[in-house]
Amino acid sequence: MDGNGRWAKKRGLPRALGHQRGVEAVRKLVRATEPMGIDCLTLYAFSSENWKRPEDEVDHLMGLLRKFIKTDLEEFIANDVKLKIIGDYKAFAPDIVEMIEDALEKTSDGSRILAVALNYGAQQEIVRAATLAAEQGEISESALERHLYTSDMPPLDLLIRTSGEVRLSNFLLWQCAYAEMSFVDVLWPDFTPAHLQNALDDFAKRERRYGGR
Ligand code: IPE
Ligand code: MG
Repeated sequence: MDGNGRWAKKRGLPRALGHQRGVEAVRKLVRATEPMGIDCLTLYAFSSENWKRPEDEVDHLMGLLRKFIKTDLEEFIANDVKLKIIGDYKAFAPDIVEMIEDALEKTSDGSRILAVALNYGAQQEIVRAATLAAEQGEISESALERHLYTSDMPPLDLLIRTSGEVRLSNFLLWQCAYAEMSFVDVLWPDFTPAHLQNALDDFAKRERRYGGR
């Protein structure tokens, strides 16, 4: 999800407002996933590198996270959404950690996964997985995979990055090995379910060979 800041700047608004509109885009998108038949959606909300941003912006993002969990948890439960966090969320403020763990527990019976990447970095994830695998005495693709945050999620089919940037920025590097990529020139607050549907239609036309022929 990229482009909140530019969305606000284009309108002469504070970045904070861009992030707020970004949350609204998330809400609409999550609601649209069920009729679209999407069983697993992962959102890159806060990277392990986002701590480098000015303190007031980080604080604002944390505030939005608190508010999002508070307002949307009941809807997740009602709509069979199973919340999952990828990343080291335990580094967040204790009250957020508590809210997250409460939300994880209350949505644990859900069948459609909404994974939110929080304090997530793919390189860090790979080092962590390799360390855990080594502790168990096995280094192999499957052993590493078992220790990734995504171990209980289906393989990544499609990765979408908004805002026109064409890079992965430390997101799901391992999982991207055979994922299809979609780089969309739309700022995140403007990204609608229709844009997602376009990306899915495009994805459906691709031929995936996984190195075969
Ligand atoms: C993405 O929007 C949101 C987060 C990283 C939380 P940005 O804040 O990166 O927006 P731009 O890239 O400055 O437009
Ligand atoms: Mg950005």
